[in-house]
Amino acid sequence: MRAPTGLVLGIETSCDDTAVALVDVDGHVVSSMVASQAVIHSRYGGVYPEAASRAHIDKILPTVRMVLDDSEVDPRDLTAVGVTRGPGLIGSLMVGLNTACGLGHGWGVPVVGVNHLRGHLRSADLEERRVKYPAVVLLVSGGHTLLAYMAHSREIVLIGSTRDDSVGEAYDKVARMLGLGYPGGPVVDRLAFSGVSSIPFPRPLLDCGLEFSFSGLKSAVSRYLKAEPGAPQQDVAASFVAACMDVLISKCRRALLAHPAQSLVIVGGVAASPQLRAEAKTLCEQTGVELCLPPLKWSTDNGAMIALATWDYLSSGQSMTLQPRPSLGIEAY
Ligand code: KG4
Ligand code: ZN
Repeated sequence: MRAPTGLVLGIETSCDDTAVALVDVDGHVVSSMVASQAVIHSRYGGVYPEAASRAHIDKILPTVRMVLDDSEVDPRDLTAVGVTRGPGLIGSLMVGLNTACGLGHGWGVPVVGVNHLRGHLRSADLEERRVKYPAVVLLVSGGHTLLAYMAHSREIVLIGSTRDDSVGEAYDKVARMLGLGYPGGPVVDRLAFSGVSSIPFPRPLLDCGLEFSFSGLKSAVSRYLKAEPGAPQQDVAASFVAACMDVLISKCRRALLAHPAQSLVIVGGVAASPQLRAEAKTLCEQTGVELCLPPLKWSTDNGAMIALATWDYLSSGQSMTLQPRPSLGIEAY
């Protein structure tokens, strides 16, 4: 039997990115590739699940091949293959899981099913150890909005989540209402910079614990646009973004009060928002907590975060499963 390389191959296909990476036990990224499906889904104004599965089928083996060629690693020497088993779209998860199982079997390498959310929460430690524990982590993506408390890298406790939509989904829906395409986050943020936050959109659950809700805000924007079809788009965007920021920052402030931490970590696609980055910086200056914002390439979906979470699994001694789970919660391995 050949000796393991000390490298894990991470495979991520839970939504609309086919992503593969090779990562060592310290989180050093040897190679990482992402095949984005944004062009396919932009015509629908959101992710079209059937098209996502088909695109993963087309892209997954060429992406694995590119990562292996790039690093000149013999896959039979890998320590493990880690693959997202949930949460996510069932068809997309199945493509990743089936491919990983086939590859692992053919190479004689163990395959580990990984929780996508745990991957996101660990993404800030890719390439270098940035997170000072204990940490409060805000995960804001297209599929999720939640707060977690991490006493150390493997101890994750959910302290707040959304009752309905994620903030990224709200951004994408508002972009669609304004005819701005998909993904909505970057365009809505850009437009907001040229507008005035003059419309009093609601701040759902602002004063209520650590739970989030964004569906009421989304509906308020829709009602407003029906009532005021001529309203300046940039003011609608600025007012929507201001409402999102008030909610996200006030929840982070409350989380830091209730769960003393050395750092506030923000991950997920919405962490790319310059407004969120600026307001989080002010919050951390006020509270004396270190702000940890990983590079954007590790904030959005990627294979490296799945590989890093796989290393956590390998050292956890937990029993592991390859069952796909579209609604997997954060506390599950
Ligand atoms: O983490 P991610 O790539 O995929 C999921 O796991 O969902 O997040 C995608 C989300 C989309 O909703 C997109 O609109 C949002 O991240 N996003 C942004 C920005 N860039 C991407 N939201 C706000 N501001 C941005 N600059
Ligand atoms: Zn994600």
